[in-house]
Amino acid sequence: MKKRVAVLISGAGSNLQALIDASSAGDYPAEICLVISNRPNAGGLGRADKAGIANLCIDHKTFPSRASFEEQINSALLEHKIEIICLAGFMRILTKSFVEKWQNQILNIHPSLLPLFKGLHVQQQALDAGVSESGCTVHVVTPDLDDGPIIGQARVPIMPGDDADMLSARIMVEEHKLYPQALKKFAQT
Ligand code: GRF
Repeated sequence: MKKRVAVLISGAGSNLQALIDASSAGDYPAEICLVISNRPNAGGLGRADKAGIANLCIDHKTFPSRASFEEQINSALLEHKIEIICLAGFMRILTKSFVEKWQNQILNIHPSLLPLFKGLHVQQQALDAGVSESGCTVHVVTPDLDDGPIIGQARVPIMPGDDADMLSARIMVEEHKLYPQALKKFAQT
């Protein structure tokens, strides 16, 4: 049985697209059944539409509290019988209570070699630190930000003259390969 996956996004959804593409293979162990965006204009919603995947916007700005926003997400996940949640450029921090409800069922992709460079603007953080390589990490989500057991990592070199956009683009190519591989591995366990 394929695992039922929801992808949570806030933006363009290129990682979502990589997951959709990978999951179209007959032997892939996971199926993308639902896409949720917290932003109404997220490009990823169009990608879900095009792939015929149920999708909805749950706009955090329209909720009085983080808890009520998350309750709405939780209801949608239950309604669609979701087993694994993939965060893919989802720009809201999930509360401890939500993460504990879905313990060991949430994955995130982060554009650095964790545990190095957590939080935002991590490509710039890597450049400022003067490291010679960076990359991306897929990890299980725990209540601490950008923490939790690592499922997989991919590395890229940092080149002379790189700026944050150039490094982001190089990392992104690897993200699109890593996330489908990591989800496959995770869904099989
Ligand atoms: C990716 O770099 C991801 O690692 C980060 O946000 C970006 C999302 O891009 N957390 P996209 O929406 O998947 O194109």
